[in-house]
Amino acid sequence: MIIFGASGDLTRRKLMPALYQLYCFHKLPEGFRILGTGRIHYEDEAYQEYIGKELKEFLPSRDQDEEALKAFTSLLHYVAADPSKEEGYQAIKKRLEEMQGGGEKSSLLFYLATPPSLYGVIPPFLKKAGLHEEPNRIVVEKPFGYDLESARKLNQIYKSVFEEEQIYRIDHFLGKETVQNILAFRFANGIFEPLWNRNYIEYIEVTAVENMGVESRGGYFNSAGTLRDMVQNHLLQLVAITAMEPPVSFNADYFRNELLKIYESLTPFTQEQISRNIIRGQYTASDTNPAYRQEKDIPEDSRTETYVAMKIGIDNWRWSGVPFFIRTGKELPTKVTEIVVHFKDAPHQMFSYPGGKGKIVNTLILRIQPNEGIVLKFGMKLPGTGFQVQEVSMDFSYSQLSGEPVMDAYARLIEDCIAGDATLFNRSDVVESSWTFLEPVLTWWKEHAEAPLYGYPAGTWGPIESEALISSCGTSWTNPCKNLTDTDKYCEL
Ligand code: BG6
Repeated sequence: MIIFGASGDLTRRKLMPALYQLYCFHKLPEGFRILGTGRIHYEDEAYQEYIGKELKEFLPSRDQDEEALKAFTSLLHYVAADPSKEEGYQAIKKRLEEMQGGGEKSSLLFYLATPPSLYGVIPPFLKKAGLHEEPNRIVVEKPFGYDLESARKLNQIYKSVFEEEQIYRIDHFLGKETVQNILAFRFANGIFEPLWNRNYIEYIEVTAVENMGVESRGGYFNSAGTLRDMVQNHLLQLVAITAMEPPVSFNADYFRNELLKIYESLTPFTQEQISRNIIRGQYTASDTNPAYRQEKDIPEDSRTETYVAMKIGIDNWRWSGVPFFIRTGKELPTKVTEIVVHFKDAPHQMFSYPGGKGKIVNTLILRIQPNEGIVLKFGMKLPGTGFQVQEVSMDFSYSQLSGEPVMDAYARLIEDCIAGDATLFNRSDVVESSWTFLEPVLTWWKEHAEAPLYGYPAGTWGPIESEALISSCGTSWTNPCKNLTDTDKYCEL
């Protein structure tokens, strides 16, 4: 495995811990080795030491075993190479030949953990160096493209170098056990699918929020923004998996064909809907945390969004008229990813409810992270005379399911790449389709600098305006944004 961007954030935080996990579970093939590459110069030993130190920071302490760490880091090699220069690839090739020691050629897995600006640069150089042929594969991170046009161009570049089967466009949300479990929950059971449509579902919320800011990724994030960083990929994937039809069988093409149908059915945004159905925000300073504009590498007048909430529709038989409310943002009060399915009310209410509530609300919460689990809420009669009905919850927690440690999303996906299974990776048409859906929004924001950008103090549930978005359905977010009474602290930027 050759990692471009070998000393970058993604490699330190995600790839190396995932590879270490695979190593500990004996899931790496015989003779597997890792060649890191980047502009910085390291000798192998120095790189091994550096990654060893980073692993101690990013691995949970229960997974840290001195002997295993030492054995794992001994698989690491490093070659300094500038990925934008042809000489760099000669250096990589030479180093690979040395590692193979004149023996049989190994299969190579290239992983692009670089800034997105290099995604289109690296493949043609790999071709020139003759490193592109089957069975070699390439993994490329999201966001794949910056907009529709650049995504199309990138796809053309990749297709001019590789066969589609060699290209693994990664979206690590698909590697999460709990995301895959949405499929099992829906399609391995006979009892939910009959209800999973416009006849029984009022609306669906998809939330993926975090309580950290941009940390050391300011440079990348400020040019991307939340729409590209989270919505185009992770959030739309969650919507598609929740909404898709059952595939004929669980193989890469059938599965991705069904995902594509959802992307193609997303109701296109008109200009009027962009202003009405999309709220973008940026965090401002709180008593304890700095504003986005005060973070490292962020311009003082940045208008990049760190929060997006949207009402989207799916134009097909199953979902016509059912709104999907999605939201994602940085510097919110907590880190949580969940999908909340709100069922329609019972058609006739004849009981009384404690606390002056007028009805029981049936919801199903698919909790992706943390406290991974599923919760179903419904009404039960309170014991005693009269007929008072109270809401109760039926909870399932994934920790009850198996004693097996849950594989990290990246570990699962790297394992799939090694095995040549592309089911959980994006196909070119799926990626282009998601950009097609977002294109009018990107264009509108680009051409209308005055389009509202709402400030929200770090540590709150996002702009107050996002409440109005969902209240059109007569309801509020499952975690409401009304947690700050001091409305003076919210302002348009
Ligand atoms: C990444 C985004 O893809 O996903 C980050 O670039 C975000 O900005 C991260 O923090 C969230 O992933 P997870 O798995 O930690 O929820």
